[in-house]
Amino acid sequence: MKLLVTGGAGFIGSNFIYYIQKHYDDDILCMDALTYAGNLETLTAAAKSPHYSFVRCDIADRDAVFKVFEAFKPDIVVNFAAESHVDRSIENPGIFLQTNVMGTQVLMDVCRKYGIKRFHQVSTDEVYGDLPLDRPDLFFTESTPLHTSSPYSASKAAADLLVLAYHRTYDLPVTISRCSNNYGPYQFPEKLIPLMIANCLNDKQLPVYGKGLNVRDWLYVEDHCKAIDLIIRKGKVGEVYNIGGHNEMANIDIVKLIIKTLGKSEDLITFVTDRKGHDLRYAIDPAKIKAELGWEPETMFADGIKLTIDWYLENRPWWERIVSGEYREYYEKMYGNR
Ligand code: NAD
Ligand code: DAU
Repeated sequence: MKLLVTGGAGFIGSNFIYYIQKHYDDDILCMDALTYAGNLETLTAAAKSPHYSFVRCDIADRDAVFKVFEAFKPDIVVNFAAESHVDRSIENPGIFLQTNVMGTQVLMDVCRKYGIKRFHQVSTDEVYGDLPLDRPDLFFTESTPLHTSSPYSASKAAADLLVLAYHRTYDLPVTISRCSNNYGPYQFPEKLIPLMIANCLNDKQLPVYGKGLNVRDWLYVEDHCKAIDLIIRKGKVGEVYNIGGHNEMANIDIVKLIIKTLGKSEDLITFVTDRKGHDLRYAIDPAKIKAELGWEPETMFADGIKLTIDWYLENRPWWERIVSGEYREYYEKMYGNR
C-alpha cells in the first residue's frame, strides 16, 4: 500500500507515520509545507526506513501537488495538513481558508485525476460548535449540525462539506474523522498541554483563559492514529466517524494536574483575558466507530498525561529549540498584554 500523509511533520501526522511504521510495511510519502508547525526533526527516526520519503510541498500549490502525485501515485491520502491553532485563526483567518479549504480542494482534484482508493480528511469536533456546561447529558454525534465558532473551525467545516460534495458529485471515495482534543509527544508548545508543561518547567506564568472552566475531551494521540488507521482500511466510503474517549476535563484541572506532577506552585497560574468566541465544552459520542469498527481508546488519561509529561522532560531540546526561536515573538504578541 502507498500512503500519502500530508501534514506529516506536525503533531498528529508524525505520530500517525510512526504508528503505520510500527504496524505495516506500507510505503509512506510525507508531504508537508514545513510551516512554523512542521518540524522534520520529529521524523528523524521515521526517515531511516527505506519505505519512507519526504517532499516539501504546499497542499494548496496545484502544480506542485500534481507533480508529487505523478511521481508517487498513492493508494490512500490522509490529509492532516492544516493551520490548526484557534488563537492564530482569530489573528489571521486568511491562511486558514487558503490551506484548510483551498488546499483540501487541490488534493481532491488531484485524487480525481489519478484515481485513489481512499481520500481521508482529518477533521475536528470543533465543527459542531460547543455544548453548554450545564448539560452533561449532551454529546456530539455524527448528525449534530455543523455550527462553528472560530475562523479555524469554520474552515474545517467548509472543508468537510467540500469533501462530502466531492463524494456525492464525483464519487470520490472519501471518509472523514472528527476527533476531540489530542495530547501526547511532539505537540507544538502553543497548545494548552505542552504550553503549560514547558512554562512550568521554565517557571513561567501559566496563562489560563477566562476562569479556566471550559471543558475539552482529551484523547491520547496514538488512540486517534489507531482510529484513523481503522477508518482508512475498514471504514465505509462516504461516512463520517467521530473519535473521542469520554474524557472531559476543565482546563484549570489539567493545569493544576501538570503543576502537581512537576512539583511546582499554583502561584504560577495567571488568569488572562478570555479567547474571543471561546467554545465552552466539547464532548464526543464515539458510539459509531466503536460499533462499526471495534475502536476503543487504549490509553487512559492518567497514564497518557504521565507519558506526555515524561516525554517533554526527556526531550527538552526538541521543544526548547521551538520556544527559543521565532515562537518567542508570537508568544510576546499573544500573551504580552493579556
Ligand atoms: P499541527 O499544526 O501540529 O501540524 C500541521 C502540519 O501541517 C504541520 O506539519 C504544517 O507544516 C503542515 N501544513 C500546514 N499548512 C500546510 C500546507 N499548506 N501544505 C502542507 N502542509 C501544511 O496540527 P495537528 O495538531 O497535528 O493537527 C493535524 C490535523 O488534525 C489538522 O487537520 C487538525 O485540524 C486536526 N485535528 C487536530 C486535533 C488536535 O487536538 N491537535 C484534534 C482533532 C483534529
Ligand atoms: O477539539 C479539537 C481541537 O483541539 C483541534 O481541532 C485543534 O486543532 C486543537 O488546537 C484543539 O483546539 P483547542 O482550542 O481546544 O486547543 P488549545 O490547546 O488551543 O486550547 C485548549 C483549551 O485551553 C481551550 O479552552 C483554550 C484554553 N487555553 C489555551 C491556551 C493555548 C488556555 O486557557 N490558555 C492557553 O494559553
